[in-house]
Formats: sequence, structure tokens, C-alpha cells
Amino acid sequence: MNMNILAHAKQALPVKDPDFSAAPTGFGKDVDNFGKPLDTSKRTILYVEGITVSFDGFRALNNLNLYIDDGELRCIIGPNGAGKTTMMDVITGKTKPDAGSVYFGQQINLLELSEHQIARGGIGRKFQKPTIFEALTVYENLELATASNKAVWWTLTKSLTGEQKFRIDEVLVQIGLKDHRYRNAGALSHGQKQWLEIGMLLMQSPRVLLVDEPVAGMTGEETEKTAELLLSLAGKHSVIVVEHDMKFVRSIARKVTVLHQGSVLTEGTMDQVQNDPKVIEVYLGE
Ligand SMILES: Nc1ncnc2c1ncn2[C@@H]1O[C@H](COP(=O)(O)OP(=O)(O)O)[C@@H](O)[C@H]1O
Ligand SMILES: [Mg+2]
Repeated sequence: MNMNILAHAKQALPVKDPDFSAAPTGFGKDVDNFGKPLDTSKRTILYVEGITVSFDGFRALNNLNLYIDDGELRCIIGPNGAGKTTMMDVITGKTKPDAGSVYFGQQINLLELSEHQIARGGIGRKFQKPTIFEALTVYENLELATASNKAVWWTLTKSLTGEQKFRIDEVLVQIGLKDHRYRNAGALSHGQKQWLEIGMLLMQSPRVLLVDEPVAGMTGEETEKTAELLLSLAGKHSVIVVEHDMKFVRSIARKVTVLHQGSVLTEGTMDQVQNDPKVIEVYLGE
């Protein structure tokens, strides 16, 4: 990376995140950060059990149980206020629950870790509003995402290793931005920005990827490409998608979980949940 990029980055950054806390920081290969390798011998990568979160006595999550398999793509749906975002906040350490447990693999207790540690440890989260650096090129954004922590980020002046360059090229292809690598991120379409942010998360090789409403505001074509991208990530990563757009959910759905009033209402295939009278009733009430 050259100093020019850093100069740009310094200009670009303070607007959004002066202390970099929103920059992607996960690097899943290094789950040993926690002092323990990730144990997914029982096939489950994420255990969310008996989680309750209260805000002034109101239960946003109420004895929530959710189990995600290693490599699966799970869609989470549910009416507004069902607790979907709060669930992601608990998994990523942003909100600590009043009761329950959250384990990453068999041994890593996520409730003992900070948001930052969880992100570094292999659980990446894509927020609705992308946190890309608009004044930098697509390539430079991915380059920055290879940096492992804030201190390194600032002092990183040496060039990338061959392996890192190879990984950037790989991610550029995955997110469909290979031909846009030298464009400024700010000049990308809304959909392309979202893919770039997913790419920045992928640079850290997360084991679990959480995406909240990925296709909001996208064109039909962008929505289809996003479906392809998320499907291509499953298997290599466990992907949890929260989305309102039912047509989109149907296009990627494997197992679907319906949340309602902070608990799981039902789980199954898209057809099973859409024909479930409990689900129909809940959505009619919206
Ligand atoms: N920080 C907070 N303070 C008070 N209430 C909150 C807070 N965050 C969420 N809630 C409430 O918790 C419920 C669940 O919210 P949320 O998880 O955002 O639902 P969803 O993402 O499914 O729409 C809502 O009723 C919401 O108003
Ligand atoms: Mg939400």
C-alpha cells in the first residue's frame, strides 16, 4: 500500500468512523485468537439458547433458541419488531442478553467476548448502510480490509504479500467487481457498494456471515446477483440472512426461521412456513 492511499484514507475516514470500529475486523482463520480452535464436530457452528433481552421491561427477545449448522444458509424472517436485529446484536456482542447462552462451536462462549473480539474471531456482520471508503478504489478498499487491526492499519506501508493479492483477486471475482477494481467506491451503484462491503468482510475469511436486509433499495437485477452471491458463499461460510423481501428469500431459501415477539414461531422450508397458519396470522396482523 502506498502513502497516497493512506492520505486518502485519512481524509475519507473521520467522517464515518474516526476510531475504525466499524471497519471489518474479522479473520476467521485465526479463531485461535480465543485460545481455542473452533470445534464444529457436532455440525453446529452457532448455538443461541434461551436468550432473553429486555428493554425497560419489554422483551425484544424472549427465550430465543436458534441453531445454525456449519456452512448452512439460513433465512430469518418475521414481522417488524420481531427481534431480528436484536438477535444479530446479541450474536455479534453489541447487546448482552439478560439470560441465555451463545456459543460459537462447542467451546467458545460469545457472551464473554467483546464485539471487537467476536468480529476478529470469525463472525462478520454486514450492516444495512455500507461502511466502505468512498474516496478509495474498490481494490484499495479490499486492500484495507486485509489489515488485521487498527494499529496495523495505520502503520501498514509495506506491500501486500502474493497470497493477499491472490485473495483480493479471488474476492473481486466473487463479488462481481473484477472489472471495477480501479473505480472509486463512491462511484459504484448502490448494489455494487453492498457487494464491496460483503467483499471486505470476505477478506477476513469469516466462518459466519450475518447480513441484515441485503437487497433493500436494490434493482431487480442487483437483487438477483445478490442471491447468486449469497448462495455461492454458503458451504464455505455459514450465512444468516435477515430479509423482508419474500421473493428474494424464496429465491435463496433453504431452511427458514420465522421470528415473532422475540421467539421462534416456526422453522422449515419456505413452502412449509408460508403455509403455516400461525405465520399467515402473524403477517396478516402487520
Ligand atoms: N435499544 C432499544 N431500546 C428499546 N427498545 C428496543 C431497542 N432495540 C429494539 N427495541 C425494540 O425491540 C423490538 C425488536 O426490535 P428489532 O430487533 O429491531 O426487530 P426487527 O429487526 O425484527 O424489526 C422492537 O419492539 C423494538 O422497538
Ligand atoms: Mg431489523
